[in-house]
Amino acid sequence: MDIGLFARKFIETFLLYLPAMIANATPVVIGKVIRGTHPIDMNLKLKDGRPLFGRGKTWEGFLFGLMIGALFGLVVKLVLIHYPISLLSFYVPLGALLGDILGSFIKRRLGIKRGDPLPLLDQLDFYIGSTISIIAYGKIPSLTSILLMGIIIYLLHRYTNLLAFKIGLKNVPW
Ligand code: CTP
Ligand code: MG
Repeated sequence: MDIGLFARKFIETFLLYLPAMIANATPVVIGKVIRGTHPIDMNLKLKDGRPLFGRGKTWEGFLFGLMIGALFGLVVKLVLIHYPISLLSFYVPLGALLGDILGSFIKRRLGIKRGDPLPLLDQLDFYIGSTISIIAYGKIPSLTSILLMGIIIYLLHRYTNLLAFKIGLKNVPW
């Protein structure tokens, strides 16, 4: 593949996932600015005595993440790549947020407390969720772009979280 075509494909894939990254980052800010948020699991505990998702997954984070992620997706499509609007702008952030919730569900079942780290799943849960969403929509990314985006998102997630910790947005650097 020639380098120009590769660069173009790469930028398109990156822009496709940008709303997922925004949707995943928005709740961190929301969790800081909104007082008295409402946990999605309504503090429900399962038989194992642990929360269904934990207090880190709130309706406010979910809804604002979905709204801002989807809005961002629309702007990217219309302004940056002049593509027609599609439901993908909604499905990508939705998949990201559901993937993040599923990640917390898995962490709780493994006995990991809210906010404690589970390397790889913490960085990639939303990426896996949005990729499933993209595939369900009928767009099948190549294995190369799935792997490449996975590595990029992992690194971006690690460094943006470190930055968020340094500026006081997060209490932990992961
Ligand atoms: N958040 C939220 N609602 C969501 C997702 C995230 O309010 N649906 C906010 C919470 O304030 C959360 C923060 O964003 O603490 C960071 O999200 P994340 O790292 O995914 O949650 P953790 O607190 O680390 O909890 P977990 O161990 O379940 O991942
Ligand atoms: Mg976390």
